[in-house]
Amino acid sequence: MKQTSTFICQQCGYQSASFLGKCPECGEWNSLVETLVGDRPAVTLGQQNLNIDLFKLSDVKSQAIKRISTGFSEFDRVLGGGVVPGSIVLISGDPGIGKSTLLLQCAMQIAKGQLGNLAVRSVGKKTSKSSSSLSGSTELTAEVLRAEGPNAQNPNNPEHVVLYVTGEESSQQVKIRADRLGTVLGDLYILPETGVETIIAAAQKLSPTLLIIDSIQTVVSQKLSGSAGSVGQLRECSQILQRFAKGAKTGVFIVGHVTKEGSIAGPKVLEHLVDAVLNLEGDDMHAFRLLRSSKNRFGSTFEVGVFEMQDKGLIQVDNPSQIFLEQRISARAGSVVTSTLAGGRPILAEIQALCASTIFPVPTRRVGGLDFSRMQIVIASLSKVSKLALGNLDIYLNVAGGLKIVEPAADLPAALAVVSAAVDKSVKEGICAFGEVGLLGELRPVANLKVRVEEAKRLGFNDFVSPDRFKTLEEATSYAIHGE
Ligand code: TYD
Ligand code: MG
Repeated sequence: MKQTSTFICQQCGYQSASFLGKCPECGEWNSLVETLVGDRPAVTLGQQNLNIDLFKLSDVKSQAIKRISTGFSEFDRVLGGGVVPGSIVLISGDPGIGKSTLLLQCAMQIAKGQLGNLAVRSVGKKTSKSSSSLSGSTELTAEVLRAEGPNAQNPNNPEHVVLYVTGEESSQQVKIRADRLGTVLGDLYILPETGVETIIAAAQKLSPTLLIIDSIQTVVSQKLSGSAGSVGQLRECSQILQRFAKGAKTGVFIVGHVTKEGSIAGPKVLEHLVDAVLNLEGDDMHAFRLLRSSKNRFGSTFEVGVFEMQDKGLIQVDNPSQIFLEQRISARAGSVVTSTLAGGRPILAEIQALCASTIFPVPTRRVGGLDFSRMQIVIASLSKVSKLALGNLDIYLNVAGGLKIVEPAADLPAALAVVSAAVDKSVKEGICAFGEVGLLGELRPVANLKVRVEEAKRLGFNDFVSPDRFKTLEEATSYAIHGE
């Protein structure tokens, strides 16, 4: 079948042989995407011979999936129990957040973990080079990041082979990072390459357990003329990788940077093509990184993995509540502990408020880690019910430690923190607050009360200010602040 590429408008389907900035049909800008088309033989419907077996779903045997551990229990949990062979997982996140670090650590752990005891090996230098001619003229050079070992003779044992394809960095740069993260053991191969055809050829040669593509925005297919990172290239390369993953039963991780435009050439265009989408979140100012799944065909999307970036890479945080409360000064006005749910897991966090008399005609409202429009409503209903003159105060609200809380359960603790800061009186000791605040100042119940309470009790917070105990915001504030 002859294949050519054509530019198709994503809005109206208009086709053009060359790229156009504006679609002449519907007038949309930048909507033409290069797409491969093949001339298919014309078929008359109803005249084909059906030569496929039809079977009932009930006759399909259930198979237990053997998952591969990434070496991080936090990561495995977010994936739903480990990497499913043949699945394709997109890891997205802002540049510099730690995607390459996380995946290189996983690659090292898989390559090392399944080889048994390797402590006595001499490792660390890249010495062996394998090169061979693959797929016609394509010359492949995959370097193995290890010195020697029992598997050197048999590099094709898929149990412990990982192929790390780097399109952004040279193998030397990856090696420097790997040295920083620990000693490289086992069959971890590195391929500095951007051509998807070469990558597939290399992967077919190695048949690795795990194939890592860092990043998809650098990968190009020869079949398309579009530049790396364009929507057409992203789609085509991901489809090729997906076909390989399914056929070879290899787990594939692809890294996707979140671009400023988000929807254009960003990971968004790939979301429907992959089995799971994981986002690595955090900010530059804090060491914490949260790994959340926004789509997962093999597990729940409620799970969250917590990591901390240290000088030797990411380490998993098993007890995030303790860490988020570590620097808390409990007797300070404006600090309230809440029990929030990050995925299915409760985490204790500190909500801080600062109120200062304003020098501006319109007082400032700054919110970090919480939903700004929700907080505006909370402050408005607070000024109504508490008779506090909040209109003269600049109010700053923040979640300590860089955590982001989007759920409405943070309304009540935020309100208490504001009142506490405004009257300059700390909340009662041992208080943990959560609850949604309605427009009229009524408190509304939150989900998963039991898990929140258990986590708070575990860390010594036994006095709960919650909607099942107080009906209104006034009652809750007068108890938490004035003890009555
Ligand atoms: P990186 O994994 O390169 O980010 P991404 O691939 O998402 O763009 O991580 C880059 C940041 O992580 C960089 O600012 C340095 C920091 N870092 C550490 O703090 N400790 C480490 O051990 C490593 C390897 C990186
Ligand atoms: Mg990177």
